[in-house]
Amino acid sequence: MATKWTPQSWRDKPILQVPEYPDAAKLAEVEKTLRNYPPLVFAGEARNLKRHLAKVANGEAFLLQGGDCAESFAEFHPDNIRDTFRVLLQMAVVLTFGAAMPVVKVGRMAGQFAKPRSEPTETIGGVTLPSYRGDNVNGIEFTAEARQPDPARMVQAYNQSAATLNLLRAFAQGGYADLQRVHQWNMGFVADTELGSKYKDLADRLDETLSFMAACGLTSETTPQIRETEFFTSHESLMLPYEQAMTRVDSLTGDWYDTSAHLLWVGERTRQLDNAHLEFMRGIGNPVAAKVGPTAEPDQLIKLIDILNPENEAGRLTLIVRMGAEKVERVLPSLLRRVKQEGRTVVWSCDPMHGNTVKSGSGYKTRHFDQILNECEAFFAVHRAEGTHAGGIHLELTGKDVTECIGGAQAITDADLKDRYHTHCDPRLNAKQALEVAFIVADRLKLERASARNAAALQAAQ
Ligand code: PEP
Ligand code: CO
Repeated sequence: MATKWTPQSWRDKPILQVPEYPDAAKLAEVEKTLRNYPPLVFAGEARNLKRHLAKVANGEAFLLQGGDCAESFAEFHPDNIRDTFRVLLQMAVVLTFGAAMPVVKVGRMAGQFAKPRSEPTETIGGVTLPSYRGDNVNGIEFTAEARQPDPARMVQAYNQSAATLNLLRAFAQGGYADLQRVHQWNMGFVADTELGSKYKDLADRLDETLSFMAACGLTSETTPQIRETEFFTSHESLMLPYEQAMTRVDSLTGDWYDTSAHLLWVGERTRQLDNAHLEFMRGIGNPVAAKVGPTAEPDQLIKLIDILNPENEAGRLTLIVRMGAEKVERVLPSLLRRVKQEGRTVVWSCDPMHGNTVKSGSGYKTRHFDQILNECEAFFAVHRAEGTHAGGIHLELTGKDVTECIGGAQAITDADLKDRYHTHCDPRLNAKQALEVAFIVADRLKLERASARNAAALQAAQ
């Protein structure tokens, strides 16, 4: 890995999970087109996110990352963008109360298209075709034509990302996210439920606080922190031709940044130490993340940290743990201890989705709400026991009332899944289920604060 990094040095390494394009000239043409398109984010914004994540790494903030498993061309609609943004804002309010610390908001949005697959092909009724790899690669329909990878899809994905990001920026800074609207975010189907009233109680308390602050002269007009929010984007850095084309030199620092999103992560299936995906990620200045699954071993994890964060910069690297509810307590403690022993500063985040995917009796890919909670609980419990900061959660969710995950307060059953199962890839929490997770995680964050206080008091008494 000591060799010189360039935006294309990944091309000399073994690579997994890439589509086979039938027309290399067309691919090269698309890459050239993308290289001339404007950046979607600015390097300064990515550095800003890194600073926020440094606070998370130091136990002074919490990371909320969420959105679709896969964005799709078919579901591209302003209402979908607004609803996902809104549920993330609601969750952030709930978590801020629990954690009593800032919540860093990062969407799996405006670029989350490409999907790694367990199998390169899919067989239905004796017909075998390439697997669907995300709308920026091929089509989901089971026809030979749709499944053929088409480079032009990357241009459509870029355009959709640009339009999505434009709306997100407007929401974040144009008044929608004003904390004084906290009650209005509760409109829609969440409002008249037990969960809705729990949220309303919290919003009432926030109202009271805001009135007090207004009496002290701090209002939306005078205080941008009340009026606006910072919202960042992220996606899996899987389609390296696209990521390379979006990688530019920052004129302020002279460093390379991948301008397709603020944060990029490497997935569980492509984080091999000697392969192309880590090679690409190591050279970009953005904050980066890596999924950490149940087979991760301490030595190998330290090597991954050496590659992605050799200077041990706080906020540079987030480790997204996704082990499955049963495995966290067995596998995570030794990883936490080793990273701490070696003095490495990372953000530890919990993805309770990807280790808990099952096939339901009726044949849908689903996740049980209880298992998702169990993984969160285990993650928080292990961190409490080790005295480390449970820094964030990473969820697949949508603001829509879908029926993709079983359970939760709505008690969605296997038989209900067929009603509104819209995902293009993995099953997502709906708005109610996502908010429920936020309330439970907020409680665990309160516990973490209490045990940190106790530990400090004990130390002071000694
Ligand atoms: C994902 O985040 O959608 C994903 C594929 O995750 P993982 O790499 O953890 O399996
Ligand atoms: Co997924």
